[in-house]
Amino acid sequence: LDNGLGLTPPMGWLSWERFRCNIDCTNDPDNCISEKLYMSMADRLAEDGYRDVGYEYVNIDDCWSSKQRDSKGRLVADPDRFPSGIKALADYVHNKGLKLGIYGDFGTFTCGGYPGSEFYMELDAQTFADWGIDSLKLDGCYARISDMPFGYPVMELYLNQTGRPILYSCSWPAYTAHPNYPAIAKSCNIWRNYGDIQDSYSSLASIIEFYGKNEGNFSEVAGPGRFNDPDMLIIGDFSLSYYQQRLQMVMWAIMASPLYMSNDLRQVPEQSKEILQNKNVIAINQDPLGIQGKRVDKVNDYEIWVRPLAKSNYAFAAINLSGSSPSNVSLPLAKYGLTSTGGYLITEGFTGDKVVVYKPHQMFTTKVNPDDVSFYKATKL
Ligand code: GLA
Repeated sequence: LDNGLGLTPPMGWLSWERFRCNIDCTNDPDNCISEKLYMSMADRLAEDGYRDVGYEYVNIDDCWSSKQRDSKGRLVADPDRFPSGIKALADYVHNKGLKLGIYGDFGTFTCGGYPGSEFYMELDAQTFADWGIDSLKLDGCYARISDMPFGYPVMELYLNQTGRPILYSCSWPAYTAHPNYPAIAKSCNIWRNYGDIQDSYSSLASIIEFYGKNEGNFSEVAGPGRFNDPDMLIIGDFSLSYYQQRLQMVMWAIMASPLYMSNDLRQVPEQSKEILQNKNVIAINQDPLGIQGKRVDKVNDYEIWVRPLAKSNYAFAAINLSGSSPSNVSLPLAKYGLTSTGGYLITEGFTGDKVVVYKPHQMFTTKVNPDDVSFYKATKL
């Protein structure tokens, strides 16, 4: 969507995967969906270094509103859980140098059964703008899928009409059998196109496989202002090993994916925080060309992924999702596009340490460990 937003993949935090629809503030006051939760996540983003490396959006997900609209038909935040209201929360978040995202639904109800925007799109867009919202995730539960190709662009229009810059995240393709990706990219800044991530390695691996298959060639439409969204980062949660967390971070960088963490920032292990804040990996995710990397090869248990970067540079990764033992793989990098006769300086993707100078007729050999990633940047010489 050409609205000046999301020129590189948006970064921030989103409540869904970790906090779901926990509305039990009586028994679980620190983890329920409430203004307190979003305020404390904003505090952590600002104070623990996340904001300074680019994490910017604090995104509310489902279950924030009352079950009823007000007498004028407007959405209202649940008064017990958001006693100060969304506008006050937006002010709080803005004062920390951050942005506030909210969640709605294209159909009659949200996936969690809260009021949807069907028949209220214009009013809801205006309400969000009045509150000072900076991003809208519009889900697609309880909707007619056949309405989506014209309905999602209608919300785009209404958001635009408010005059407030609002990043638009669409779930439209996730509900569609054969998504029209060029149309989606025209109307949305980011879009979900696959099932929800869960806190498990198998879920992560299935998303990587979906992006590897790239059915319908959705990678082609990615670019500044328009990115595929493979869903949240689960780094710092419960299920992933240290190496699997590195794998997710690198793959989200190669795939030019939004970096929306869904974890408890109050208790992210130090190792996970280092992965999430690694500046070299983030720089690759945020490359200004916005080209989405692709799986270019599958050799035995290995997959090779390559992302073209600005200045004719590349990022590439070798991964092994099948859990066999550490092994060496030899990569004919020229076959994947690294053909400049002057060669490339290869650096390790996390540390930036020099590995070798590569010339196009050579093979590049690296060791790949199970569920881990071998990740490099190639700088054209
Ligand atoms: C859908 C979305 C999730 C989340 C939930 C909320 O499943 O894909 O990301 O927003 O709804 O109910």
